[in-house]
Amino acid sequence: MPGKVIAAATGKGGAGKSTVIACLATYWASKGSKVALIDADPNQTLARWHSKGSALAGLPLKVETDEHAIIPTVAAFVADHDIVLIDCAGFGNQVMIFAIGSADLVVIPVMTDEASIFEALKTRKIVESASQLVKKPIRSRTLLCRVKRSAVAVHARAQLVAFHAEPLTGQLNDRVAFQEATFHGSSPTALLPRGGAARDVDRVAKELEADIWSRS
Ligand SMILES: Nc1ncnc2c1ncn2[C@@H]1O[C@H](COP(=O)(O)OP(=O)(O)OP(=O)(O)O)[C@@H](O)[C@H]1O
Ligand SMILES: [Mg+2]
Repeated sequence: MPGKVIAAATGKGGAGKSTVIACLATYWASKGSKVALIDADPNQTLARWHSKGSALAGLPLKVETDEHAIIPTVAAFVADHDIVLIDCAGFGNQVMIFAIGSADLVVIPVMTDEASIFEALKTRKIVESASQLVKKPIRSRTLLCRVKRSAVAVHARAQLVAFHAEPLTGQLNDRVAFQEATFHGSSPTALLPRGGAARDVDRVAKELEADIWSRS
């Protein structure tokens, strides 16, 4: 069976795309899945993450910022991996559109502010258009990231529900473990498997699994 392609995308910078990709990669690799990574962001946050520690180092990673090469790069990885994860740039570009068009599911990280939600809704529309263009279903799920325990977080989730943006029930709470992981080139799953951040990742990964594998 060909692998599944999951892209993290939103036009909002700093929402948590690279974090969620690195964390999901580590999680699924630790469960024995064959995972490949594509860094489609010219800033190469994921590539630096990959080069720093052991958690991602064993996984193949290709930096691909050429809009004409992204589709063949995805196809090459899909042929012999279970999961291909793509980290998109923090601004809309052609590479992001083609990455979304190649995906089975797009995770849209969203912070708990109005601009993030606005960008998330725009990204959902891009996914819908890409899905129509390539004539295949492409799921998209919003994922609340960097969430502080606050009334505004509750409000942001309610807004996503009201706008039918299909938020995942799980969320990546605002935790220093996610920032520590960037320095170690690792992930909470590898660094602190019993900690709160690893639990956040675990819950999100399981929900995504239920979403894409149960539908195929
Ligand atoms: N759940 C979290 N808790 C605490 N810090 C977080 C969390 N998620 C991300 N961060 C921090 O927020 C910053 C931005 O995260 P990240 O690089 O994953 O976002 P991004 O969407 O990939 O950004 P860009 O648009 O620049 O590519 C980083 O410093 C990261 O460590
Ligand atoms: Mg990034």
